[in-house]
Amino acid sequence: MSTQERIEKMLKKSEVILAAGGEKRVAKQHESGKMTARERIGALLDEGSFVELDRFVRHRCTNFGQDKKELPGEGVTTGYGTIDGRLVYVFAQDFTVEGGSLGEMHAAKIVKVQRLALKMGAPLVGLNDSGGARIQEAVDALAGYGKIFFENTIASGVVPQISAIMGPSAGGAVYSPALTDFIYMVKNTSKMFITGPAVVKSVTGEDVTQEQLGGAMTHNSTSGVAHFAAENDEDCLRQIRYLLSFLPSNNMESAPIVETGDDPMRTEDYLNTLLPDDSNKAYDMYDVIKAIVDNGEFYDSQKYWATNIITCFARMDGQTVGIIANQPKVMAGCLDINASDKGARFIRFCDAFNIPLLNLVDVPGFLPGCNQEYGGIIRHGAKLLYAYSEATVPKVTMVTRKAYGGSYLAMCSQDLGADQVIAWPTAEIAVMGPAGAANIIFKNDPDVKAKTEEYIDNFATPYQAAMRGMVDMVIEPKNSRPTIINALQMLESKRETRPAKRHGNIPL
Ligand code: HXC
Repeated sequence: MSTQERIEKMLKKSEVILAAGGEKRVAKQHESGKMTARERIGALLDEGSFVELDRFVRHRCTNFGQDKKELPGEGVTTGYGTIDGRLVYVFAQDFTVEGGSLGEMHAAKIVKVQRLALKMGAPLVGLNDSGGARIQEAVDALAGYGKIFFENTIASGVVPQISAIMGPSAGGAVYSPALTDFIYMVKNTSKMFITGPAVVKSVTGEDVTQEQLGGAMTHNSTSGVAHFAAENDEDCLRQIRYLLSFLPSNNMESAPIVETGDDPMRTEDYLNTLLPDDSNKAYDMYDVIKAIVDNGEFYDSQKYWATNIITCFARMDGQTVGIIANQPKVMAGCLDINASDKGARFIRFCDAFNIPLLNLVDVPGFLPGCNQEYGGIIRHGAKLLYAYSEATVPKVTMVTRKAYGGSYLAMCSQDLGADQVIAWPTAEIAVMGPAGAANIIFKNDPDVKAKTEEYIDNFATPYQAAMRGMVDMVIEPKNSRPTIINALQMLESKRETRPAKRHGNIPL
């Protein structure tokens, strides 16, 4: 064969693979509102930056006549490219090829980019659209999943791992995304479940649709499995690019500094009047966040789940911060099981990737009740205490109002390692809510009303804590932004080590 013939052969082979599952299946993919694997990669990465690996990988399965089947690209496109000029590894499952199902060699392609991402210290983005284990490949498919889960775990905390669910993700296929840092789900087209509606019906008798069981909003608002919801494929890929703009490429780097043009010394008079005089009335913690971060811009993770706590990325003087904030508008900002899980996981992500933590505190306590106790609020609440104590990144805490009892500690008090604690004059840092406390200590006192008021004046303030140095400064709310930015700058050189150990034992 001449060189020219060899080149032509290669181009022909490539052409077949680039055609994916063929015109009909590609048309079906488009009709269902989905992009193809290659279109998705094109939209995710900087234009023209994609370098494909393993285009010619082929399966080795001979069961059920599979050896006679061509599965272009093995049903997954893998490689690397850049996002905003930074290296990123990517895989995109191709639903047009045997439903994007995962066999031995499909898995091997994914494992290769996982290992490269780890070695090179670059994020890995997985675009999932798959019917799960390729049934014909039996245990080889299972082994493939096992290898992917293993690599996900090894890379955890070393490089950011992001999963987008852009079609089905059923059975064992859900667990690779679950092991990654963030899950995106596309509305209407994505589904995630361990077992589908038919199995659910046969086992529990429940009638449920795929959407109800595992649609984007189910996992964004009910289960807390997903972190972000997208309107469509394009929106999803745009959001992933946006998320990566806040993150470093690996655990040895800091997040990129972005010139935001917002004055670090900017004060915000509005904050002096934001809080209602009655401390039992709600206000919106998002108003505080918008007022203090660069250009009022932030990116909410798990926006629809456990909304009594807010976890978001933002920038302060161009530096990424991870904000954990109580939301007085929802359940008065109480901490419950889900809020504890949400907060703790976000804290651990930020700590793993050198992102300073800013804690905005207005918390009346842990939510009481049988549901919470039986559900293990003790175990879940402990995750917050653990995650904050374990974190060695700069930790700045600002108490706007309530900070009572265990929940005060759980929102990163000085004793849990906050490097700087700032309080507004409206802060109420106390062992418990003042009415409850006064009722206990003055219960037999005829003058209980006056005594309670006196107690509130003396103890529902920042000054008991400030007198003991547990609060570093009490500030006018309008000065929050410059004060926090100053603290973050002061903390830039922070170095804190922990005793060597195999790993801690976070209460799970
Ligand atoms: C082999 C599969 C497949 C699979 C889909 N296909 N899933 N082939 N193994 N797991 C093939 C179909 O046969 C079909 O081939 C093509 O992909 C498109 O699938 P359709 O069914 O036509 O598409 P659609 O109607 O959109 O339905 C998509 C689907 C459905 C909901 C994902 O295909 C489905 O339910 N698949 C099985 C899902 C499942 O039970 N997975 C669990 C596997 S066990 P043709 O040739 O007709 O185009 C598992 C355990 C792993 O994952 C545990 C690891 C720890």
